[in-house]
Amino acid sequence: MRAVVCETFDGLQSLTVREVDKPAFGPPGVPGAAARDVRIRVHAAGINFADTLIVQGKYQLKPALPFSPGMEVAGEVTEVADGVTSVQVGQRVMANVLFGGYAEEVVAPANCVYAIPDSMDWASAAAFPIAYGTSHVGLVERANLQAGEFLVVHGAAGGVGLTAVEIGKYLGATVIASAGGPEKLEIARQHGADHLIDYTKENVRDRVKELTGGLGAHVIYDPVGGDLFNDSVRCTRPGGRMLIIGFAGGKVQEIPANLLLVKNITAIGYTFEGLRTLFPDMIRRSMEELLSWYASGDLKPHVSHTFALEDVQEALTTLVERRSTGKIVLTV
Ligand SMILES: NC(=O)c1ccc[n+]([C@@H]2O[C@H](COP(=O)([O-])OP(=O)(O)OC[C@H]3O[C@@H](n4cnc5c(N)ncnc54)[C@H](OP(=O)(O)O)[C@@H]3O)[C@@H](O)[C@H]2O)c1
Repeated sequence: MRAVVCETFDGLQSLTVREVDKPAFGPPGVPGAAARDVRIRVHAAGINFADTLIVQGKYQLKPALPFSPGMEVAGEVTEVADGVTSVQVGQRVMANVLFGGYAEEVVAPANCVYAIPDSMDWASAAAFPIAYGTSHVGLVERANLQAGEFLVVHGAAGGVGLTAVEIGKYLGATVIASAGGPEKLEIARQHGADHLIDYTKENVRDRVKELTGGLGAHVIYDPVGGDLFNDSVRCTRPGGRMLIIGFAGGKVQEIPANLLLVKNITAIGYTFEGLRTLFPDMIRRSMEELLSWYASGDLKPHVSHTFALEDVQEALTTLVERRSTGKIVLTV
């Protein structure tokens, strides 16, 4: 099969597309794993910020070289292990994998595979599990966002950010979107944001205070980190929650513990993949709820760019250079 291959950890430029062996059922050394596997003929693969890190050896997971990146796919089931009953051959599905998704075929454990609604196209399905899953579990299970609360979403037009805007709005929060520039903020507005802050021009701390009657936000959703996080601590209201999603800005902040203490703020560390291992049933419930919201027309996956598998370098460069909104998808 054809696949994108990472041969060295020298970054995006070292990625190639070539023929490789099809993946086998069951990762070596994991007893019983082969009995839970599903083979998928990939039609589309979602691009994630983490893919740009994993190919440089900078992600928390460092696969043995050579490997194919790609953490989420949409496609058709072509084979299931004997022990799998949750999906059938021929079904249209989306799936989460740790890597291997930028390829014509992928093998995924059945508990990471979800049937997709008939109305959902391949690109939307490939863009769905990680971005929506991260924001739903983060806002509902980790931050306990309530209707009527103020939610600030940073990087609000990005992959995870835009889904946090939609989900926050759906849950009844007043959503304050912050992003870099008017075009990105307009996308956030179209997906439900009530208030907009351009963090390249405006002072986030002052604007959030102004929009929340001087009290600050109840919940901050932060995939950007660095100095933005430091501003955010200062505009979180007493008793508020800060959801640490990522560090797309490139700088991992030190948290001023004195401010957390004085204002009774909770800083919440969170990774979607980590929780999948700890609480697989919670992740499945979350995906089922999200798919029902999609089916009723309440979620609108936004894919700003699609690229062919061969153009993977251009796809990842578009993400790194902050030219995308919502998600980028590779078509296979
Ligand atoms: N915790 C989890 O489970 C989880 C799950 C998925 C993703 N993440 C993390 O969340 C972050 C965003 O992921 P994503 O897939 O949504 O990425 P994305 O689509 O590229 O969005 C990132 C956003 O961050 C903003 N940004 C600010 N400074 C940036 C910089 N120097 N380089 C790139 N973007 C910058 C950009 O918006 P502006 O141009 O408007 O500033 C961009 O829209 C990443 O750190 C990722 O690892 C965490």
